[in-house]
Amino acid sequence: MSALDRLDPGARSYLSLLSQCLTRELFLDQEWWDVDLGDWPGDPGRPADVEELRSILRNRGWRLVRRGDPAARAEGRDWPPTAETMIGTARLANVVECCVDTVLDGVVGDFVETGVWRGGATILMRGVLEVLDDQDRNVWVADSFEGLPAPAADAHPSDANLDWSDVEVLKVSADEVRSNFSRYGLLDNRVRFLEGWFSDTLPGSPIEQIAVLRLDGDLYKSTMDALLALEPRVSPGGFVIVDDYGGWEPCRTAVSDYRAAAGIDSPIVAVDWTGIYWRKT
Ligand SMILES: C[S@@+](CC[C@H](N)C(=O)[O-])C[C@H]1O[C@@H](n2cnc3c(N)ncnc32)[C@H](O)[C@@H]1O
Repeated sequence: MSALDRLDPGARSYLSLLSQCLTRELFLDQEWWDVDLGDWPGDPGRPADVEELRSILRNRGWRLVRRGDPAARAEGRDWPPTAETMIGTARLANVVECCVDTVLDGVVGDFVETGVWRGGATILMRGVLEVLDDQDRNVWVADSFEGLPAPAADAHPSDANLDWSDVEVLKVSADEVRSNFSRYGLLDNRVRFLEGWFSDTLPGSPIEQIAVLRLDGDLYKSTMDALLALEPRVSPGGFVIVDDYGGWEPCRTAVSDYRAAAGIDSPIVAVDWTGIYWRKT
């Protein structure tokens, strides 16, 4: 029986609606993207003068916008302008399934995401606790809240040429994430924030046992720091979910290195083109 079949129809509808709001799939026809003028095609034989275009738009107070691509959003392949998550439909459904199964199977522990961006996946985790009337578990929301770290001088070779530390869209403050939880009526004292670099916040964090650990830090180091600090706290029967396994070689390498060193042979299950999970035996 799938996890969703274990929910009553009202709970299923709420979680489905919540997911579609968090991805904005429900309102995609109202969402517009700013066009990067560097992509302007120009006429054949007459390349566009991008600076001139920029200046025309600026002087008129205009923006050039385009519609979003529903397939990209559903698959979690774009960086949405307003949605609270970028992970798409299948990976959100996987969050629901893992959280529901652990609660209904009595697997002890909290839900954790390392790398939350605008908070959408953790908002959904808190929504699962709400519909199952769970009164005990915490949802841990771990992020720098200032984007990705720059690679250190001694970075793992997978990370060495990956400097995304100046990507502004990945910098979302903890207050913005709190406000996103509030928007859905899901902010309370069981939503616990761990603010800072994983290497500083996770090893000594007061998280005890974990039922669902979701890793979404992109880089080798971010993935490895989270695994080293938190995977040992995952309860038997709990889930480890990795967002970037298929799509990002640095993340995949960190997972392989960690699993080999820790002797983990639980089968890896694919969620979609990039997400995977395993269940701890
Ligand atoms: C791809 S986004 C996460 C997407 C999110 N899970 C969602 O549902 O849309 C990656 C996040 O990881 C965070 N991050 C990456 N490496 C980190 C590190 N070493 N310490 C703290 N935060 C980190 C970034 O700040 C960013 O918010």
